[in-house]
Amino acid sequence: MSDLETIRKEATQAVASAQDIDALEKVRVAYLGKTGVITSQMKSLGTLPPEERKTFGASVNVVKDEITALIENTKQALETAALSARLAHEKIDITLPVRPEQKGSIHPITQVMEELTAIFGALGFTSEEGPDIEDDFHNFTALNIPANHPARQMHDTFYIKDEKGEGGNGNVLRTHTSPVQIRVMERFVKEKQQSPLRFIAMGRTYRCDSDMTHSPMFHQIEGLVIEEGVTMANLKGCLTEFVRAFFGRDDIPLRFRPSFFPFTEPSAEVDIGCSWENGELKIGAGKSWLEIGGCGMINPNVLKNVGLDSTKLQGFAFGMGIERMAMLKYGIPDLRPMYESDIRWLNHYNFGALDIPSLVKGVAG
Ligand code: DAH
Repeated sequence: MSDLETIRKEATQAVASAQDIDALEKVRVAYLGKTGVITSQMKSLGTLPPEERKTFGASVNVVKDEITALIENTKQALETAALSARLAHEKIDITLPVRPEQKGSIHPITQVMEELTAIFGALGFTSEEGPDIEDDFHNFTALNIPANHPARQMHDTFYIKDEKGEGGNGNVLRTHTSPVQIRVMERFVKEKQQSPLRFIAMGRTYRCDSDMTHSPMFHQIEGLVIEEGVTMANLKGCLTEFVRAFFGRDDIPLRFRPSFFPFTEPSAEVDIGCSWENGELKIGAGKSWLEIGGCGMINPNVLKNVGLDSTKLQGFAFGMGIERMAMLKYGIPDLRPMYESDIRWLNHYNFGALDIPSLVKGVAG
């Protein structure tokens, strides 16, 4: 048997016994690589007498082509086998039922915020936002609460410290949503907009206070109307309409109790009628009253602070706690679990994502 025949046979065996691509690659290098068996046969051509060179060269090429084709075919077969093995191994049964998953749902605070947006939207209010971190001017001074004014003590303010943990630049975590009044009025002036201006602003507010009914972070809704000729009567009408739409009842009495807020004059606290039956709170005409927020006619000083002409324009404002509204409407007794992410509480009080807010019935507009 010629050398070449031996090489061909051995190579064929070596290819046949290669179990995977790596082994096959080794065979390829051993025969066809730079120092491989076939390659050295080619190199030896130069040492042969010219008359042998041609026939031997042709024979080497035949064997070389044969081995090359064999390796190529085997490579494809191994790759196909590897892919099939992988597919068989990774096979997933798409008919298997999915693992049970918790469905997302709407937190009562979000639910109430959506209800507030819908009701006030129907009453002609747009929605505005402001930053959680406020400067002293917007949170206090512009709202007619100057430095050292006792009203600042009504707000247990979180002051933002500087990087060294000292002093700070006077920024605070907003203690109420009222600074959004200032921001929107500033824009109103800057953009020379025409009255009426009617908006609500909802969002997080912060006070250094924590117990059954207070959380250091809570939510408020602010409302503001600037419109020629609006009076306290419009304010009362607006809030009455709102309360009745929110609770879905036409017979809830409201009481406007004189009070003090630096940014409104006159100011009032808003109470709704309620009664207690066997320790259970019922909203509606009864012997008791529940406070739900504050309101009043915008103090002319506030209008002046943003550059509005207080001799020509007037308006009203109001503010309410959103947690409190949610607790009253949905009978939630304790405020704290609202932020504890306890799945049992959430399952009990949350709303399905497709629940349609029960409202807007009865809202004029
Ligand atoms: N900012 C007040 C607070 O947090 C609530 C409030 C009262 C807002 C009267 C108003 C208002 O706009 O007119 O206690």
